[in-house]
Amino acid sequence: MSKEINETLQGTATLVQPTNKSDSKKLFLESYGCAMNFSDSEVVASILKKEGYDTTRDFEEADVILVNTCSIRDKAEQTVRQRLHIFKKQKKSKPGLIIGVLGCMAERLKDTLLEQEKLVDLVVGPDAYRDLPSLLEGVEGGQRAVNVLLSRDETYADISPVRLSQNGVTAFISITRGCDNMCSFCVVPFTRGRERSRNPLSIVAEARELVENGYKEVTLLGQNVDSYRWNISKKGEIENPDIPTTTFAQLMEMVAKVSPELRVRFSTSHPKDMTDEVLHMMAKYKNICDYIHLPIQSGSNEMLKKMNRNHTVEWYLERINRIQEIIPNCGISTDIIAGFCDETEENHQDTIKLFEQVKFNLAYMYYYSERPKTLAERKFEDNVPLEIKKKRLSEIVAIHRQNALEENQKAIGKTYEVLVEGVPKKNKEQYSGRTSENFYVVFPKEGVKKGEYINVKIIDCSSATLIGEVLN
Ligand code: SAH
Ligand code: SF4
Ligand code: F3S
Repeated sequence: MSKEINETLQGTATLVQPTNKSDSKKLFLESYGCAMNFSDSEVVASILKKEGYDTTRDFEEADVILVNTCSIRDKAEQTVRQRLHIFKKQKKSKPGLIIGVLGCMAERLKDTLLEQEKLVDLVVGPDAYRDLPSLLEGVEGGQRAVNVLLSRDETYADISPVRLSQNGVTAFISITRGCDNMCSFCVVPFTRGRERSRNPLSIVAEARELVENGYKEVTLLGQNVDSYRWNISKKGEIENPDIPTTTFAQLMEMVAKVSPELRVRFSTSHPKDMTDEVLHMMAKYKNICDYIHLPIQSGSNEMLKKMNRNHTVEWYLERINRIQEIIPNCGISTDIIAGFCDETEENHQDTIKLFEQVKFNLAYMYYYSERPKTLAERKFEDNVPLEIKKKRLSEIVAIHRQNALEENQKAIGKTYEVLVEGVPKKNKEQYSGRTSENFYVVFPKEGVKKGEYINVKIIDCSSATLIGEVLN
């Protein structure tokens, strides 16, 4: 996923836009985790809209509260638990209120939230959202309601999501679900199940509908977009040689052709699977953004092996070289885990060296959090003390910030095409948007409309933001 795209979202809650019907049942839907979860919440809102559920931004007036949850790190789960305790209090003053957990925690904890902790009434895993109406009915009738079955073929391809993003300019489209990689630290294969690709025609139809509704940017989502593969006969199993297969690069082209006005982004790319075909396709279409999120996780081959990432640092650097050759000035971001099992100071210094070598524009950096059932939890000891994990993480963050600042300073004086996305949280007098390379830019509002492409000259910056003036 996000990542930030996928992960700027991590740990934040999104609220559903209210509508005005007064006679409907009210749903409060809050999402945590990666973009995939936010995208799933839009599917959930769509399924429940058909059942007469209208959304509200105020949980106190809700008849149903659903929390779409994340299990990626312990902290993510703790945040959700705190919220569930607040909602449980609300139930004391409103006994008919239904509280449900969706997403990755539902899958990981199954019915313990319901049976042992008695925190919620409903537990629904990521492949069971079509069952929500009947599960809710069951809860109304006083039954316990759990469906955490994972599927080999559910992609919700036929469901037109209710867009919850507040800007009306950018949207997510899921292209794959699940993950077949077994990175040893990662809970996702357990919470999301096997990887499956979605019918490309339904993806293109969704992009078209978004364009018709004024959207200007789509982000194609998958845990590993490069392994997208559609073959009508057997969805990912033995492929029928008589039917052409659609690869990720071909899918990107199909979406790019929907409209030259529609920006196409994608996340997440996996270094072991990212092909030159994808890079050439990015170079061929101006509306496919020059930005790649390419997580490496560690700068040490020893750690990468233990992490079961199936690539080396050398392989990763070769991929970076290819990106720079084929798409000069491409924005590149990464993910890093500090303090994985048995990580030595020398291994950590290899990560620091990597950051000296590759100046990432963005990086999502974490310290290792052991997750139950994962390969690492079963095979290795979580033996780097917390203070050392935190110290290493802060060293990586410091070098990254310095790099990102230097990279941003290079943008000063240059002019970029920016898609105007909305109002930044910190200054309501401004608008913000992004360049094709995914640089985040803020600029004065005057004379500018949301959803427009404008030229912005960069006049100042911090390590995370470019400050610009609008050119006419
Ligand atoms: N599919 C994406 C990542 C999804 S999870 C990929 O392969 O890159 C997003 C990020 O969370 C990961 O890239 C990793 O950096 C981080 N992460 C995953 N499991 C973690 C754990 N147990 N502890 C700390 N960070 C973790
Ligand atoms: Fe997790 Fe690895 Fe799959 Fe990403 S590719 S979701 S890190 S198992
Ligand atoms: Fe996403 Fe968190 Fe699940 S990162 S896939 S919501 S564990």
